[in-house]
Amino acid sequence: MAGLNTGVLISGRGSNLRALIEAGRASGFPARITLVVSNRADAPGLRLATDAGIATRVIDHRDYADRDGFDRTLDETLRAAGIELVCLAGFMRLLTPGFVAGWQGRLINIHPSLLPCFKGLRTHRQALDAGVRIHGCTVHFVTADLDAGPIIAQAAVPVAPAADEESLAARVLEAEHRLYPWALSLVASGRARLENGRVRLDGVAASDGILMEPTPAGSPVSSDVFGAARL
Ligand code: GRF
Repeated sequence: MAGLNTGVLISGRGSNLRALIEAGRASGFPARITLVVSNRADAPGLRLATDAGIATRVIDHRDYADRDGFDRTLDETLRAAGIELVCLAGFMRLLTPGFVAGWQGRLINIHPSLLPCFKGLRTHRQALDAGVRIHGCTVHFVTADLDAGPIIAQAAVPVAPAADEESLAARVLEAEHRLYPWALSLVASGRARLENGRVRLDGVAASDGILMEPTPAGSPVSSDVFGAARL
């Protein structure tokens, strides 16, 4: 059976989009990317989509007097294409409560931090400034509040003592590319559902999504605690 028709909203590079497209091509994957919408005509991710034979639309937010108008066109575009699930992947626009309500439980986002820490922008800088030893990424259902929706899946990565913003971003991005397809599969298959404002998970082990280094050499901590990647 073909997967759910999934739309991806982007504003830029599109590396998560690429990961979702690749996952969606695998036989039996419960979602497939059938439309990519960008609010910027120069988003490199559009090219990725075109090369993959996926329909693209540009809806330039500067053509709209307000967010409501932009979101209405976005909503109509997605519905006209028969989209059933929407993934935000580096989409740099705030969505209105009306739009979000219309896609409740079918609209997900990836954020480059372990929420609820480090909402907003420059999350890797925020993590370094806070001195955390574990950082990562989160896929969550989108609500009207920025980066605050119910959490579906998270991947953790260690912060190396010598890490800088760039190296940490690269490390987390790798985890994003593994986490997002997995989280999409949970939602598309119904294993992760939004119920009464909370995520209900079926058939997901506690350690799924936890991505950690193997036990550091010489560590007194058992490898049960620092397990290998499960994703
Ligand atoms: C990712 O880090 C994602 O978590 C954040 O924006 C970035 C988008 O990167 N929301 P890409 O366009 O997917 O390469």
